[in-house]
Amino acid sequence: MLDAVKRPPGVLGNPPEPAGDDLSDDDFQQALYLCYEVGYAGFAGVSTDWANEPSLVALRRRLSERFLAGLTTGLDPLPEGRDIPARLEAMISADDSPSAADYLLHHGTQDQIRELLVHRSAYLLKEADPHTRVVAWLRGRPKAALVEILADEYGGGRVERMHAELYARSLRALGMDCRENAYLAELPGVTLATANLTSALCDRPCWRGALLGHLAVTEMTSSGANRRYGATLRRMGLGHPDVTDYFDEHVAADAVHDVVAAHDMAGSFARSEPDLAESVLRGAQLLLRVEGAFARHVIASWANGHSSLRARSSPAADTSRTDS
Ligand SMILES: [Fe+2]
Ligand SMILES: [Fe+2]
Repeated sequence: MLDAVKRPPGVLGNPPEPAGDDLSDDDFQQALYLCYEVGYAGFAGVSTDWANEPSLVALRRRLSERFLAGLTTGLDPLPEGRDIPARLEAMISADDSPSAADYLLHHGTQDQIRELLVHRSAYLLKEADPHTRVVAWLRGRPKAALVEILADEYGGGRVERMHAELYARSLRALGMDCRENAYLAELPGVTLATANLTSALCDRPCWRGALLGHLAVTEMTSSGANRRYGATLRRMGLGHPDVTDYFDEHVAADAVHDVVAAHDMAGSFARSEPDLAESVLRGAQLLLRVEGAFARHVIASWANGHSSLRARSSPAADTSRTDS
């Protein structure tokens, strides 16, 4: 895929489709990630016209449908009840996945928190960009609630407060590479799956309900996790505001987004489009599933004394953007 998209846009031909367990398969998730990534700000040396190339669109659709089909297999029954915020809360409480934030707070090393920042860079350096396209697919109160959240994600119009900018500043302050996709070659499939799920649910109007459930649970769980990441950095003597601002901002902002997302966005959407109420809860379930797999992977790697990243295999695969 990398070789293909470095050419001028044209027919992809029949790229071999990776086999194996889609959720953790590095090749599968990288291929799908690249299919989405050409539709965001893009890569150095890669034409953004690839985003509309029919053969790439067709491949993206095939891979994303396969990914979501695998991910929705064997899900638990949904919690009973009519109230969407309460049912989302019940799903979060019932989730018994381990927490990377807890692990890092109690056992983490500097190398491990840096790894965590590398993993999260795939999404957080473009935080909220996938969700902007969903705005057009909503009406009324859920639309206003989503826009309220997105306005904060974009710093209320102040570039220095944009969450993606805050994240880049954290990386820079730690001496890390803050260019988008600089670390792509090191990201395992289980990490890219978290970014790909967001992109997938933001890619088609029919999945908008699932995206709202996914975003609601992201917001409902973010404040606590970011508080622990901030505390971990301070425990390690990395408490400079340039490093911790991103995390501190989310402790405050997501305590508000939590309520807006659960009630005004997901809850009012389910009332206005009752046929998609189940889909809201399924989206939340998919988020918990990919995040659980991610947390299990990083914690198992660290507990066994390994890196949770892939070894960089080839220096030729420079996918970073150079203009940021
Ligand atoms: Fe944010
Ligand atoms: Fe938020």
